Amino acid sequence: MQETIAVLGAGIMGAGIARVLARAGHEVRVFDVRPEAATAAAESAGASAHVQLESAVAGATIVLEAAPERLELKRDLIAQVEAANAGAIIASNTSSIAPDALAEGMRDPARLVIAHFFNPADTVPLVEVVPGPATPQATVDRMVALLEGCGKTAVPLAQQVEGFIANRLQAALYREAMHLVELGVATPEQIDEAVTAGLGPRWALAGPFEIMDLGGLDVWTSVTDGLFPTLGDASAAPAMLRDRAARGELGAKSGQGFLPRDADAGAAFARRLAALLEARDSIN
Ligand SMILES: NC(=O)c1ccc[n+]([C@@H]2O[C@H](COP(=O)([O-])OP(=O)(O)OC[C@H]3O[C@@H](n4cnc5c(N)ncnc54)[C@H](O)[C@@H]3O)[C@@H](O)[C@H]2O)c1
Repeated sequence: MQETIAVLGAGIMGAGIARVLARAGHEVRVFDVRPEAATAAAESAGASAHVQLESAVAGATIVLEAAPERLELKRDLIAQVEAANAGAIIASNTSSIAPDALAEGMRDPARLVIAHFFNPADTVPLVEVVPGPATPQATVDRMVALLEGCGKTAVPLAQQVEGFIANRLQAALYREAMHLVELGVATPEQIDEAVTAGLGPRWALAGPFEIMDLGGLDVWTSVTDGLFPTLGDASAAPAMLRDRAARGELGAKSGQGFLPRDADAGAAFARRLAALLEARDSIN
């Protein structure tokens, strides 16, 4: 089914999302408070650019919000959408705000659902679809159908949880990675190598439950019994992360993170990731 989709916010994520949706044949309109961002994203997607939110959302069947990750800003944007469009599903690309918090103050919270893409949005297949307490299953199903029609792998959650699935898993791994560095067991380079040479390639083909089945659940019972009590259990950002960020060592965008990084490291990574996913598709 062809949808008319307004993408609000044409930054890193909104621009990629607009390309994904337009490529699948939907009518896409892009709105951003920075008109030049809307124009650039619309041009890259083959969509229309809008300088007024009202004109972007008028008659839209789906509104996809990819504005900055600030609760008040998003609530305000959603209120404007509700005032200008009566029926569209309002999908938010928030990475961390729970749908019930976003829906607070909405006239009709049943319109809200999370559609959480991953950067780069036009390359990474996964989109998590997260209902709020008021979201009907039919809305989740419609988002899943839309995303699958765009070639995405949509994973619907049964209920909301902080961080959804993928970022929770990622955070669990990052906590242990930093714990190992703080213990002096390995350097960041060595840990990155253990992941890219060992865990990562397996995970492109099989998730944790399949890997446990392949290894044997008796084995994994012993492994988890032995290791869980020894794992890092930090309940806040560790000093090695917090201190770097405070010093302005922000990663590729400032030239220095855990290691020195080129400003174009993200773009180079996106190209290599696209090649890897092509190879994965060809063997799956
Ligand atoms: N960057 C990521 O890796 C990533 C991944 C998944 C989800 N997200 C989520 O996607 C959303 C957007 O993130 P991003 O990285 O694209 O941010 P970004 O800063 O690159 O883009 C945000 C865009 O929104 C525009 N904007 C600001 N106020 C607006 C308003 N009131 N109405 C419309 N547009 C407005 C800005 O001009 C900017 O172009 C956030 O909720 C973020 O958490 C980001």
